[in-house]
Amino acid sequence: NVAKTYQIATIPGDGIGVEITNAAAKVLQTLASNAKHFDFDFSNFDWSSKTYLERGYYIPPGGLDELKAFDAIFFGAVGWPDVPDHISLWGLMLPLRNALCQYVNVRPTRILPGTSSPLSACKSGDLDWVIIRENSEGEYAGHGGETHTHFGNAVATDTSIYTQAGIERVMHFAFETARSRPRKKLTMVTKSNAQRHGMVLWDRIFHQVRKSYMDVDADTMLVDAMTVRMVLKPKSLDTIVATNLHGDILSDLAAALSGSIGTAPSSNLDPTRNNPSMFEPIHGSAPDIAGKGIANPIGAFWSAAELVSWIGEKDASAKLMKAIENITSQGVKTADLGGTDSTVKVTDALCAEIKRLY
Ligand code: NAI
Ligand code: MG
Repeated sequence: NVAKTYQIATIPGDGIGVEITNAAAKVLQTLASNAKHFDFDFSNFDWSSKTYLERGYYIPPGGLDELKAFDAIFFGAVGWPDVPDHISLWGLMLPLRNALCQYVNVRPTRILPGTSSPLSACKSGDLDWVIIRENSEGEYAGHGGETHTHFGNAVATDTSIYTQAGIERVMHFAFETARSRPRKKLTMVTKSNAQRHGMVLWDRIFHQVRKSYMDVDADTMLVDAMTVRMVLKPKSLDTIVATNLHGDILSDLAAALSGSIGTAPSSNLDPTRNNPSMFEPIHGSAPDIAGKGIANPIGAFWSAAELVSWIGEKDASAKLMKAIENITSQGVKTADLGGTDSTVKVTDALCAEIKRLY
């Protein structure tokens, strides 16, 4: 007798997005059937570059409203060589984040046991970060345009948008995250020497919000120097907050430093809980390996663990995370981590480990 059924929307998208979403759904189902006190009801949304080429849109009319009824969304990846990337990103991914008010993007990074960092001195435990990326404004606000194209001298702008309310809400979330972690340490990243308006506002609001979190050890970095610190002094960092663009780039670097982009998870959160949040690995659709059955599903599984935690099933989430760490430490790994296992093999090993832990 099941206490609660969570309604989960799955949007697999393109390429390996489909492969890892199928794997994640299987794992979530296995988790629920072992935990017993909850269940998942999945609804699949086939919104992809293939359907875009057939119909002319990614999200059908009313699609965004339909998603609001769900408890959470699991997203694979969008993007395919037949469609320009700015069309696919603005056709599917960004409208979802915007319409569902998912204003923070949380990207934890750790070196999983049994995997290794390209930094030779960096062992499992030396790199344990959470990057909080602002997810609604900044460089990805969509402000800008192109004119004068027909004069043979095209002019194009992308205006970065920063609002006091937008910065304050992500800053509070970042300080709360830092406070909830053992080291209580936050680093804020900007480029306020060269970008003298929006980034200076970020700095100013950081110093204001900080007054409410004096128990958090907080510092600031310029983004260029931050890349150096991430590589040379990874242990000196814990929680990191940055703009949409900086957070995007730094989290890919973080993923690579932790071993592979294939293991890195992300959560697009509406912290007010007025809208469902969305969970996805940070990688894209990887056309180079799509259809080969070798995509690393760990980033998708870790994202699924974040989903399970966000809806309130903390114990089940911890079990799933433990199972993931157990199989990586046993050496069950895809090629990107130096192993030889297929997506299906890793998925089956994880399902078996979940059963064993219950
Ligand atoms: P990508 O993340 O798809 O691939 C980069 C490299 O990492 C490739 O060599 C790929 O094989 C490898 N890789 C990625 N995920 C992997 C996994 N799970 N297991 C093993 N290897 C993995 O990034 P790329 O190539 O820049 O973009 C491909 C497409 O994906 C583009 O259309 C892009 O716009 C889109 N994209 C979509 C994202 C999203 O939906 N959130 C995020 C990033 C890119
Ligand atoms: Mg990215």
